[in-house]
Amino acid sequence: MSITSFHPPARILMGPGPSDVNPRILEAMSRPTIGHLDPVFIAMMDEMKTLLQYAFQTKNELTFPVSAPGSAGMEICFVNLLEPGDKVIICQNGVFGGRMKENAERCGAIPVLVEDTWGAAVDPNKLEETLKSHPDTKVVAFVHAETSTGACSDAKTLVEIARRHGCLTIVDTVTSLGGSPVKVNEWGIDAIYSGSQKCLSCTPGLSPVSFNERAIERIRARQTKVQSWFLDLSLVMGYWGGDGKRAYHHTAPINALYGLHEALVVLQEEGLENAWERHQRNHQALRAGIEAMGLQLAVKEKERLPQLNAITIPAGVDDAAVRTRLLQEYGLEIGAGLGEMAGKLWRVGLMGYGSNPRNVLIFLGALETVLHDLGASIESGVAVRAARAAW
Ligand SMILES: Cc1ncc(COP(=O)(O)O)c(C=O)c1O
Repeated sequence: MSITSFHPPARILMGPGPSDVNPRILEAMSRPTIGHLDPVFIAMMDEMKTLLQYAFQTKNELTFPVSAPGSAGMEICFVNLLEPGDKVIICQNGVFGGRMKENAERCGAIPVLVEDTWGAAVDPNKLEETLKSHPDTKVVAFVHAETSTGACSDAKTLVEIARRHGCLTIVDTVTSLGGSPVKVNEWGIDAIYSGSQKCLSCTPGLSPVSFNERAIERIRARQTKVQSWFLDLSLVMGYWGGDGKRAYHHTAPINALYGLHEALVVLQEEGLENAWERHQRNHQALRAGIEAMGLQLAVKEKERLPQLNAITIPAGVDDAAVRTRLLQEYGLEIGAGLGEMAGKLWRVGLMGYGSNPRNVLIFLGALETVLHDLGASIESGVAVRAARAAW
């Protein structure tokens, strides 16, 4: 065998995630591994909770990172809050709402879908109507930032409607946390999850979650055991819970947690509002460049995510050929369309550390050149000039 060490190429990650990882985070992850019950590590976990409470804008005691990716964050919410026979309304306007339905079914719950066009935000009126016709609904779940389409839903209004109808809420903020406002306490969200690899710019594989007292009461009142041992909150709480005592549950991914801690310190240093504003600023510059080339963003302006820009692929352009050239010639990764958006969209992430003028300019310059080579009549430099003017 002649297998040697793996050395990945340097890439610019401008897809739907993972995003470019801040070198400070990679450095933090290379620090010495210590025991997951070491008092020094436990002190770091306490800081992690405080930092996550800041990121989520919550005082919830039960706020911690699940040792697994965003999908596990989704699953921990569903398996703990739902019991067989419970009715759950799921708002679906993209791929990840569909994944929520899969989760609900596997819990033995009864999902009722509120469907919206892919690329549009969830319609609050439809949720209200559906709640009226299903008054026995226990939980409402939706995706705040639909990564598959680039649409942002009005989480505050959706949660307000759900609460008025006596429901708990599960909110997916995998792509929004750190890039767009997420206000758990102010909006009254009961259970929320996110991912480490998007606007937090950490490596993939961790899922910050937070549960309020209403959610915990529901879990305490369960008649049936949570079907997943690993994700049963009553057991996980022994390690991450608020009482300060830490008992073994599973071996925590120590170095990955150093990374998330550093990512959250970076966020705290910048300040949440400044981070949201930076994502907007760079999005506006990208948008100016895209439009200057004669291309269009697929989501309507009021519903656009600044961190995930869905660009409509112009007729006659070979989607895969463009993405391949960007990767091979520029080391630049963008995302293809997912699900029913395959072949229709490019998804360009400006997330966390990757939301910066350098990435915007490199991408616009590269796309201009590639499209020009493929025969599009684009004036050289027009997109880059428009982006610079926007800043
Ligand atoms: C909105 C949304 N929810 C859930 C997930 C699942 O996260 P992960 O891939 O980390 O499991 C993703 C991943 O892209 C996402 O964008």
